[in-house]
Amino acid sequence: MSVLVVGASGAVGGAVVERLLTGGERVRATSRDPQKLELPDEVETFAADLDDPASFGPASAGVERVFLYADLEDPGALVAQLSESGVRHVVLLSSSSVTFPGAEDDFNGSRFLRVERAIEQSGLAYTFLRPGGFASNAARWSWSVKSDSAVPLPYPDAVQAPVHEADIADVAAVALTGDALLGATPILTGPERLTLREQVATIGSVIGRSVSVIEQTEAESFALLSQYVPEVWARQIIGDWREAVGTSPAISDEYTRITGRTARSFRTWAEDHVDLFR
Ligand SMILES: NC(=O)c1ccc[n+]([C@@H]2O[C@H](COP(=O)([O-])OP(=O)(O)OC[C@H]3O[C@@H](n4cnc5c(N)ncnc54)[C@H](OP(=O)(O)O)[C@@H]3O)[C@@H](O)[C@H]2O)c1
Repeated sequence: MSVLVVGASGAVGGAVVERLLTGGERVRATSRDPQKLELPDEVETFAADLDDPASFGPASAGVERVFLYADLEDPGALVAQLSESGVRHVVLLSSSSVTFPGAEDDFNGSRFLRVERAIEQSGLAYTFLRPGGFASNAARWSWSVKSDSAVPLPYPDAVQAPVHEADIADVAAVALTGDALLGATPILTGPERLTLREQVATIGSVIGRSVSVIEQTEAESFALLSQYVPEVWARQIIGDWREAVGTSPAISDEYTRITGRTARSFRTWAEDHVDLFR
């Protein structure tokens, strides 16, 4: 039976497709715009939009397992559609924010919780991947690293444990190819704690050029970030940084427990994406 990857154009979704193909799985992939997908011919591609559950009919027919992003308005309708198609197991890219106190009332936590709950209530088998902050969030710095060898930040001493998208995809692939992770909700983090300042320095070290941090006020940061992301996101990102100053975020061992390997470092992420910053 085929495995369906929703969002095969995404960083995680694309890496999931690669792993499934390497493992010899039959893969279907969706995008809202499948023409942009650059996938081997053996992958069947479909147009589908998470906000239009009926659009998943052709893609999900006869599929046993689905990899799903949580970016959707009406999870109940989508999950009902997947159930009717015969899907048995959904592997959801959720977030560790669902485990934080007050997640129900938090903008970020609540949007993932809604999707997790709809899947739980549907009776479908599930795996909820709960990553913390992605290493790829540093991709937002690429423009200023390239143009100014500098990154403006309001809270450079915020501490994170950034997770590589490839680690998330590795765990997703395990979940999508067997029953080992049925009902599991692994928290995925990187293997080390790093301040934003240390992440900037790591990027500098990888590209062989010194990259400095320029301290900003929150208002300056908000003005800059909201050019690229919705204002609600800009507020969330800055608030997360503010709260992470001087903290010691938990490092999860779930990646190693599931895959038997060490989680990829932020340095590895920077090396894998060096062209973004050169
Ligand atoms: N950044 C973080 O620190 C962090 C932490 C925890 C969780 N997350 C979650 O992880 C996800 C981001 O992962 P990523 O880096 O792999 O994302 P990405 O590279 O930006 O890709 C997002 C994917 O989602 C698909 N998608 C979005 N809206 C869709 C819709 N309405 N219908 C169908 N497909 C849709 C896109 O497909 P098409 O455009 O091709 O249709 C695309 O393939 C988000 O859900 C985010 O909330 C992020």
